[in-house]
Amino acid sequence: MCGEHRSGCGGDVGVMAAPGGFAPNRGFFKRVLVTGGAGFIASHVVIAFVKKYPDYLVINLDKLDYCASLKNLEAISEEPNYKFIQGDICDAHFIKLLFETENINIVLHYAAQTHVDISFSHSSEFSNTNIYGTSVLVDAAYEANVEKFIYISTDEVYGGSLDEEFDELSPKRPTNPYAASKAAAECCVLSYWEKYKFPVIVTRSCNIYGPHQFPGKVIPKFISLLQRNKKCSIHGSGIQIRNFLYATDVVEAFFTVLKNGKPGEIYNIGTDFEISVQQLAKELIRLIKKTKSDSETEEWLDFVSDRPFLEPKYPMKLEKIHTLGWRPKVTWDEGLKKTIEWYRDYFHNWSNAEEGLVPFPLPQ
Ligand SMILES: NC(=O)c1ccc[n+]([C@@H]2O[C@H](COP(=O)([O-])OP(=O)(O)OC[C@H]3O[C@@H](n4cnc5c(N)ncnc54)[C@H](O)[C@@H]3O)[C@@H](O)[C@H]2O)c1
Repeated sequence: MCGEHRSGCGGDVGVMAAPGGFAPNRGFFKRVLVTGGAGFIASHVVIAFVKKYPDYLVINLDKLDYCASLKNLEAISEEPNYKFIQGDICDAHFIKLLFETENINIVLHYAAQTHVDISFSHSSEFSNTNIYGTSVLVDAAYEANVEKFIYISTDEVYGGSLDEEFDELSPKRPTNPYAASKAAAECCVLSYWEKYKFPVIVTRSCNIYGPHQFPGKVIPKFISLLQRNKKCSIHGSGIQIRNFLYATDVVEAFFTVLKNGKPGEIYNIGTDFEISVQQLAKELIRLIKKTKSDSETEEWLDFVSDRPFLEPKYPMKLEKIHTLGWRPKVTWDEGLKKTIEWYRDYFHNWSNAEEGLVPFPLPQ
């Protein structure tokens, strides 16, 4: 599958070939491939990159799965240093040709299947995209002599804990097929450093929130349900604690890692801010439904059965990323306010957004 936004589909990989058959740097200092750029986090990365670095060409490669939306990229879609290519990281032939024709210098790899609940019923699909797709991509990047390859992983590879804080050398003990596939993909990426000193870096971030996230995930789901006068569906008792970092803060962390991170290293990216899912729901209810008392607030909660195992929390040590010079800037109150406002206006950026609001979503 291929297709290029704006300039049409040329050649096997869907990229418009320049005279001579290649797409040289055409005046751009570097060419950056961002995978999954029509998804939540990477759409913020693409927008920031395109705006901040006009001398870098940003190529967004995305399959346009159910959680993707090109509408979230409208702010930059006509910029001369942005290019969208529709394609699948699991298509090895397509990926090889993409690297051969696009002269890519840097890869930021976000594309993945990301919903933990769906991973239990569709584990082979998660293994295929997250492990096999990553191995296809890193191998093609290595063959193409890419200068830096950043793999975006998750705190979920550590498994849950009540009190132990995980540092980058803590053992990986994933407790769901999503986290297991991310852990396996990390090993695959890092093996290219071990064997060839190919400059890969792995980041493990906590939960990210903000605009552009498909409403199947907890914060946009609760906001969107409440904005439609529906109750927040809480898995189990809602005591599970999560750290939430605002989208623009994690983008800055990725830029910091890209600039100052050392090849072969792993960096935790997180925040000290933590909140239980139940507390999060109550806070959103107070903000959106303007409830005054606890009993009024609790009327908007709907407890649904738990998934097989809910980790209490994923606490991480953050000294390593702090040493690189990064700290989060956006306060929880500020980030939540911006997120609530965004979903009021842009919920329909996904034609299938309503389908994300059921308690246990299935992929569309
Ligand atoms: N959201 C979080 O809180 C969080 C936290 C830590 C790490 N991460 C990681 O960050 C990355 C991005 O997460 P997100 O929440 O933005 O995800 P998302 O589900 O919003 O977006 C994923 C994107 O990948 C694309 N994609 C899926 N399969 C593909 C394929 N085979 N080929 C090409 N594109 C494909 C989808 O179309 C989508 O646009 C993931 O790797 C995830 O594991 C996310």
